Amino acid sequence: MKAVYIEKFGGPEVLKYGDVPDPVAGAGEVVVDVHAASVNGADWKVRVGDYKQSTFPLGLGRDFSGIVSAAGAGADLKVGDAVFGVLDVGHEGAYAEKLAIKAAIIGKKPDRLSHIDAAALALTGLTALVAVEDTLKLQRGETILIQGGAGGVASFAIQLAKHIGARVITTTSTPNLDYVRSLGPDEVIDYKTQDFTKVVKDCDAVFETVGGDVAMKSFAVLKSGGRAAFIASGGKAPTPPRGDVASLRPAVGRTRRHMERVADLYQKGAIRPPEVKLYRLDQVAEAHRVSEGRHFRGKLVFQVR
Ligand SMILES: NC(=O)c1ccc[n+]([C@@H]2O[C@H](COP(=O)([O-])OP(=O)(O)OC[C@H]3O[C@@H](n4cnc5c(N)ncnc54)[C@H](OP(=O)(O)O)[C@@H]3O)[C@@H](O)[C@H]2O)c1
Repeated sequence: MKAVYIEKFGGPEVLKYGDVPDPVAGAGEVVVDVHAASVNGADWKVRVGDYKQSTFPLGLGRDFSGIVSAAGAGADLKVGDAVFGVLDVGHEGAYAEKLAIKAAIIGKKPDRLSHIDAAALALTGLTALVAVEDTLKLQRGETILIQGGAGGVASFAIQLAKHIGARVITTTSTPNLDYVRSLGPDEVIDYKTQDFTKVVKDCDAVFETVGGDVAMKSFAVLKSGGRAAFIASGGKAPTPPRGDVASLRPAVGRTRRHMERVADLYQKGAIRPPEVKLYRLDQVAEAHRVSEGRHFRGKLVFQVR
């Protein structure tokens, strides 16, 4: 099969597209013929060596949508099922024509949802659910600041938080204001012209998806007893500069329950897929340059078949 892989860490130039052996379904696993796979920030962090994997060639990519083409012993999905999901923690390799994965951690793709949109919603949806529902435990009537509204995870989180019944404030740059407004938040702050710490205060929760200075400054908008969740500041939550708030790092595991929740929210109309820019797998270097630039909106998705 064709796949994207690296043989050493480095810039987009180390990305290779070529032939690799087909995967085989072990016990409890299925082989999925990948129709679409998405680009996530983690992928270029893997490429540059941040995650310190030591085995080459190393495939890249974490989430996908496709059709089951083989099922191992005990797998509870069958050939022909349309599925979407995220590779198990520590596994990479969704930028490929096929992948093998534990059946128990993926979900059935709703018929109405395209493979492209399902791939765009898999890791972003999972991460937003774990952060907003499981970690921040956001409640109806609370106020949340979601940093980086135009990004994939934040665009899901904005819609999820509105569905929960929270008041939602978010940040973005001037060119993305209309897109982010279309996701339904109560207030959008243009971070190019306004300092969010001057206009936001007394939040119950912050969901921080940008990192760097934005993460540390976010503590200032919390009310006493507030909580903040961070997904772009490494594996640990930053240490807060004040003692009356909680700083949390969501533990994003993989479960079918979360994929089913993504599907259910889509079917209910609570979540719509993000804006998508399509690539072919052999355009991977270009897609990584855009992802690493961190100023696009929505998701970059590979149409594999
Ligand atoms: N399991 C996990 O822990 C997990 C899972 C998924 C993602 N992540 C991490 O979460 C982060 C977000 O990922 P993502 O895929 O949702 O988004 P992304 O594509 O990496 O985010 C890009 C977005 O950030 C916005 N942005 C950049 N600087 C900003 C600023 N100063 N203030 C507000 N917005 C700003 C950009 O919009 P503008 O052009 O408008 O600035 C852009 O839309 C990444 O670091 C990723 O690695 C972690």
